[in-house]
Amino acid sequence: MVIMNAMGLEIEKIGVLTSGGDAPGMNACIRSVVRASAYYHKDVVGVMMGYYGLINGHYSDMPPRSVGNIIHRGGTMLKSARCDEFKTREGRQQAWQNLKEKGIDALVVIGGNGTFTGAHLFYEEFGVPIIGIPATIDNDLFGTDYTIGFDTATNTVVQAIDQIRDTAASHGRLFFIEVMGRDSGFIALRSGLAAGAEALVIPEREASIEDLVRVLDRNWKSSKSFSLVIVAEAGEGGRTYKIADEVNKRLNYYDTKVTILGHIQRGGSPSCLDRVLSSRLGVAAVEGLLEGKRNVMAGIVNNKVVYTPFKDAIEKGQELDEDLLRIAQILSI
Ligand code: F6P
Repeated sequence: MVIMNAMGLEIEKIGVLTSGGDAPGMNACIRSVVRASAYYHKDVVGVMMGYYGLINGHYSDMPPRSVGNIIHRGGTMLKSARCDEFKTREGRQQAWQNLKEKGIDALVVIGGNGTFTGAHLFYEEFGVPIIGIPATIDNDLFGTDYTIGFDTATNTVVQAIDQIRDTAASHGRLFFIEVMGRDSGFIALRSGLAAGAEALVIPEREASIEDLVRVLDRNWKSSKSFSLVIVAEAGEGGRTYKIADEVNKRLNYYDTKVTILGHIQRGGSPSCLDRVLSSRLGVAAVEGLLEGKRNVMAGIVNNKVVYTPFKDAIEKGQELDEDLLRIAQILSI
């Protein structure tokens, strides 16, 4: 079967880019897109620095060997950027012009919410066949159980909390540990549960300072000698200092410390789960394009590949797992 793109041409050359915050597994995903395309006898062009490179013409051909020895590496060999110019019609027009000149018939965009917002507009305006692959440590997209990078990031967080636990236990201290997640609490919830935290502060369930004080006071009175509280940044990095101060004012018997984990959460070699996810979704994106799917994100739901319209992936948002939250609460007594 021959599948045509929006211009009535068969897809021969696929562009691939990574955009937004980098996530461990992006390299494994680029590798998958390049190798799957070669398998189906399609050429691939790598676009450097996300939409910025699309607009400014930073392209390079990617034969299968160009992605050797990257499956285990963090970051992204194509670099990444957040690009304001692509939010303008003029910027997208320029990108379209470049694609035509370079003979690129279709795009695979690897990124998160912002990446898909741009991709959706680009498709609507210019009809460029595009498939997205969810890659963000935040895990905040509808249409996939996991985003690429989330598993590695949460493993990094758990390892960091374990190390803080050692020193917290030695000194009998109360630690507030801030994790990333943008506006969501998925990293905080999963890592907090896995690391045995005493309390979670996440935007989806904003507890009052009084609630936190009550839990920590109860812990102290029930002979817990130290406590770990995981705080999601919730769009306000550094807010943990304020929360710790407020708690400290009320519970002055605790020796309180704050740790902001920051960008260590974005780096490192991808976990096995992220490499498998990246490999599956890269192939799914290429096969989706060749089967005629457009303007959708490839994801995995209940271990099956599904394609979700960009609009839904962006707007519907991932549901917080209430059961995980309940379990974390039960186990923190
Ligand atoms: O979206 C990934 C993420 O790491 C968020 O968790 C965080 O809020 C944001 O990116 C940080 O962005 P930047 O690296 O641009 O500071």
